[in-house]
Amino acid sequence: MTIHRIGIVGGGLMGSGIAEVSAKAGLDVTIREIDDATVVAARSKIEKSTGRAVDKGKLEPEAREELLERITYTTALADLADRQLVVEAITENEPLKLEIFKTLDDVIEDENAILASNTSSIPITRLAKATGRPESVVGLHFFNPVPVMGLVELISTVLSSPETEARAEKFACDQLGKTVIHAKDRAGFIVNMLLVPYLLEAIRLYENGVATADDIDTGMRLGANHPMGPLTLADFVGLDTTKAVADVLYDEFKQSQYAPPPLLVRMVEAGLLGRKSGRGFYEYQ
Ligand code: CAA
Ligand code: NAD
Repeated sequence: MTIHRIGIVGGGLMGSGIAEVSAKAGLDVTIREIDDATVVAARSKIEKSTGRAVDKGKLEPEAREELLERITYTTALADLADRQLVVEAITENEPLKLEIFKTLDDVIEDENAILASNTSSIPITRLAKATGRPESVVGLHFFNPVPVMGLVELISTVLSSPETEARAEKFACDQLGKTVIHAKDRAGFIVNMLLVPYLLEAIRLYENGVATADDIDTGMRLGANHPMGPLTLADFVGLDTTKAVADVLYDEFKQSQYAPPPLLVRMVEAGLLGRKSGRGFYEYQ
């Protein structure tokens, strides 16, 4: 069954991107944010990103207007009641996500609706167990920036039904045009199990004074052909999110390579969250 109505909870870096690609694919999109200020911020991210697509000749101005008209903003979770799929994309914080899944279970009317999380690391089974319909819960893990990155990780739990998994895959592949890979429900899934220890190792190199941030990043850009060096990428992902993912991985595996380095912890405590706060390993305008 084709998905026509999608709800996104959280219109930050990821939620705004998921909303944009969904609206571009013709879906009716409702985004739930916390308050008026965060609604304005979510709207402005989507306007900026689609404006840039028009400037680059990738989107017609009329198509952009139609795309923007397909997106509605709300601060009430109850406004997602008629959605066929909801993707939760709020801050990487388990208690907050559990609360959202519990409430979604109460408000979503369609018993066949899919409840998905875009979490980078938190085991989906825990979110599923916060609902009375764990068979309908999966992880749909998009990558940043969503309009550019071709991948979605699909995480099913031992409780997800094959129908939910198949419908979620069809949505990501056929409707959004993403490539789907499948992972079992282990913290970090596939990509972040590999990517996050690499980012943490780069922070340790920097923290230990082995090299400057610039040289570490240039090393991986020119020496390994990565589009961004690891410290630029950590700033891009968000240092709060990077630390939160490291915490979840460390909690699951108890291995030192996942422990967030003290410098990362201090930077997050200081409010240096990377690009989104204007300063991380680098400064941004
Ligand atoms: N939204 C939409 N399009 C964007 C964009 C955005 N936010 N940022 C860049 N683009 C598009 C540009 O329009 C441009 O498109 P064209 O080539 O068609 O003109 C293209 O991407 C390249 O952009 P730029 O030339 O401006 O910049 P760039 O060459 O430096 O590329 C980048 C930017 C695509 C972000 C590239 O640096 C990159 O791929 N970086 C690595 C990203 C990455 O690793 N993401 C994964 C993060 S980890 C994650 O997501 C998982 C998690 O759980 C933490
Ligand atoms: P972000 O900080 O940019 O955005 C989070 C948004 O959630 C904010 O706009 C915030 O106002 C909103 N929010 C918080 N609590 C809410 C609530 N109760 N209801 C509605 N909105 C709420 O974070 P992000 O980078 O977009 O990350 C979101 C999720 O996506 C996290 O689980 C993260 O791990 C995951 N993720 C992040 C990346 C990345 O590169 N940043 C990549 C893939 C997945």
